[in-house]
Amino acid sequence: MQSSESDSARRPVDLRSDTVSRPTPAMRAAIAEAVVGDDGFRDDPTVLQLEARVASLLQKEAALFVPSGTMANQIALRLHTQPGDAVICHDGAHIVHHEAGAAPALSGVTLTLLPSEDGILDVEDVANAMRTREDGYSPQTRLVCFENPHNGAGGRIVPQLQIDAVAALCRRNGVALHLDGARLWNAAVASGRSLGELAAPFTTISVCLSKGLGAPVGSLLVGERAQIERARRLRRMLGGMMRQAGMLAAAGLYALENHIERLAEDHRRAELLASALAEIPFVRVVPPDTNIVRFRLRGEHPIWRATLRGEPSLVERAAAEGVVLRGEGQSFRAVLHLDVDDDGLDHAIDVLSRLLAPAGTSDAVPGET
Ligand SMILES: Cc1ncc(COP(=O)(O)O)c(C=O)c1O
Repeated sequence: MQSSESDSARRPVDLRSDTVSRPTPAMRAAIAEAVVGDDGFRDDPTVLQLEARVASLLQKEAALFVPSGTMANQIALRLHTQPGDAVICHDGAHIVHHEAGAAPALSGVTLTLLPSEDGILDVEDVANAMRTREDGYSPQTRLVCFENPHNGAGGRIVPQLQIDAVAALCRRNGVALHLDGARLWNAAVASGRSLGELAAPFTTISVCLSKGLGAPVGSLLVGERAQIERARRLRRMLGGMMRQAGMLAAAGLYALENHIERLAEDHRRAELLASALAEIPFVRVVPPDTNIVRFRLRGEHPIWRATLRGEPSLVERAAAEGVVLRGEGQSFRAVLHLDVDDDGLDHAIDVLSRLLAPAGTSDAVPGET
């Protein structure tokens, strides 16, 4: 936390991702005190406790502790498919863009990508893309994947009605439904729905402890007991079985107890940041549902024009003033999390507002369009 730090001593406000948050002193104490065993022999009591706790929160039969969200998603793909099968995903999904091509490489599946601005899979599009009649030619659709909240769409919460409609379609066609719920906790807090309600339509769900919840490592794959037993074998195959993993599970249990409710703070700060950015000419902001603020500089924005001339980009200018962002071309992402308090937010708003204000650059501002 940074509230007492002066501007000159300020630690950079790191808005690249909620994964950058560091374990708090209390979480470190929980790690130090963890009772551990060898999870390879299933006798690490803290891991067992974490798995039982997450299964119960999501109202499913069982959960498996794995090192990362990527591994949880990829085990799910292996679990539900055979090589040659097809998996329907949103075209901006993490599974598609940020898992190093694992789906075709590890499971031999083709991905059927469906576009939409807001990360939502439309039931008619899914119905049209689904191939379940064996014709000797088409890849057979065995799995549909949702991401909720949808990271690429700015932490957007997928409406439950849409999910329910796709879930009914999947049930009618014997197709499994997986949820990449890396930030499902954020969706629960922001929507007021329980984790059980959000998880109910899905065959399997992956959730992460290392994002908004602030644990250093760890994710879980959640589902029916028999599936999770098969997932255990797949985890071993992928090299993800850990030994005294109770050290990490203790951080997760601490986070579940202490860091879920506080996500509302991150959401409030995301809204404040988004409102400040929305007031700046030539900046287009996606109104945040949760803790992720995505914004885009329009072609006319002087900083973008300067970047095209080889001058420092917004990311470089902001970093020089202690605000760390991620950006690609004209698009940027700022994520609020445990390590960004009100002081940090104020600093980020000051810096970004000043840098992005058209007067702060050498270009004359053309008329607003
Ligand atoms: C939506 C989503 N799914 C999965 C992951 C993967 O998590 P990990 O980095 O633990 O593999 C991330 C990571 O940020 C994510 O945003």
